[in-house]
Amino acid sequence: MANGDQVLSQFTQVIEEKKAYSGKKLKIGIIGTGWIAEAHVDQYVKFPDVQIVAMADLIPGKCQAFCERRKVDYSGIHFYTSHKEMLEKEELDAVSICTYNATHAECAIDALKAGVHVLLEKPFTVTLDEAVAVMKAEKESGKLLTIGFQPRMDPNMQQIKKIVESGELGEIYYIQTGGGRRRGIPNSTFIEKDTAGIGALGDIGCYSLDMVLNAIGYPKPITVSGYTADFFGKNPLYMYPDANHTAEENAARFSVDDFAAAFIRLEGGIVLDFRISWAMHLDTPGDTIILGKKGALRIPSTECWNGTVGGEMTLYTDIAGLRTQTKLPIIPNNKSLFEMKVRSFLDAIHDGAPAPVPSSQILYNQAIIDGISKSAALGREVEIQIPEI
Ligand SMILES: NC(=O)c1ccc[n+]([C@@H]2O[C@H](COP(=O)([O-])OP(=O)(O)OC[C@H]3O[C@@H](n4cnc5c(N)ncnc54)[C@H](O)[C@@H]3O)[C@@H](O)[C@H]2O)c1
Repeated sequence: MANGDQVLSQFTQVIEEKKAYSGKKLKIGIIGTGWIAEAHVDQYVKFPDVQIVAMADLIPGKCQAFCERRKVDYSGIHFYTSHKEMLEKEELDAVSICTYNATHAECAIDALKAGVHVLLEKPFTVTLDEAVAVMKAEKESGKLLTIGFQPRMDPNMQQIKKIVESGELGEIYYIQTGGGRRRGIPNSTFIEKDTAGIGALGDIGCYSLDMVLNAIGYPKPITVSGYTADFFGKNPLYMYPDANHTAEENAARFSVDDFAAAFIRLEGGIVLDFRISWAMHLDTPGDTIILGKKGALRIPSTECWNGTVGGEMTLYTDIAGLRTQTKLPIIPNNKSLFEMKVRSFLDAIHDGAPAPVPSSQILYNQAIIDGISKSAALGREVEIQIPEI
């Protein structure tokens, strides 16, 4: 199975019959019709309260080819090669931004300025400055902006937050998080700086950061000492050929990180030890652990952070002086995380409710990623400065 298929196969598809809907349908535009757009469009076409009316991709013919491949009826869909032209010509209610990382900020700012609600794929942006600019546009527009972290919808992920909030662990002082793969460098647009901007750090690092930061209420990051490497990506031995490139060509194109590690100080005296890998000579850089003054939680590492936790979690506490370990059963989930991600966005629009995954939280996630890149380039610890929005 191709790497992409392995990821998507985790999202159990629940096909529901379209129920009768008599209200005004939300007009949806799709920006970027590459791989992840499939998971968005597959949801929109199921829902009775929306209609995809436009799609834009820089590559001529790609939108139509996308629809033909996915068997999407495109008789009522206008195709564009510029998202700006699409936003000007169409009266859209909302867009899914499914472009590579380097154009997230531009597309999100343009959509918000056009008065359109935005579901923006992860990572938020490439840099902190871009995230701040998007949030300024969000504030000025008054429109909804949610960031596409579908693992938030998983009940096991939600359980981590519930455990922390229950007080069972006491005051948290140290967290180790991350994960990744022994071999799993994606290809296509993920490996070039011009399109991806950042590598494993942004692609899967953002998920492991979100898992723990969301659980502890997203404290502000203060300082970071970061490290990034690209030893595997630049070596043809570890790269794969694809439809358009040999392994040697992909190694020559590789211009992002394939491994990152960092030590981050958070407000409240919490320290965060982070490591993430697309490739290394090891199966896992370690489980996620959350240490509190009363107890601790171990969350088994996973190869790919797009879905749920890597296995049964273990809760460590002392009961009347006796050291105990409790295995927490996996909570079954038969709903598609992508369905829940897109549905929660649409429901928030209908209800005028807050964003399911608000930019104000993911700003700190992006600040850490940005801090790691800067610290790694400078070879020293940096302070994280977050501008006023
Ligand atoms: N949530 C998830 O599980 C998940 C999984 C995979 C990828 N992603 C994210 O989705 C994004 C896209 O990934 P992908 O694998 O689909 O990439 P991709 O390269 O397959 O597709 C991106 C598409 O966007 C188009 N594009 C870029 N800038 C554009 C612009 N300004 N206007 C119109 N089209 C534009 C490109 O031409 C390309 O067709 C990335 O940010 C990635 O991190 C999320």
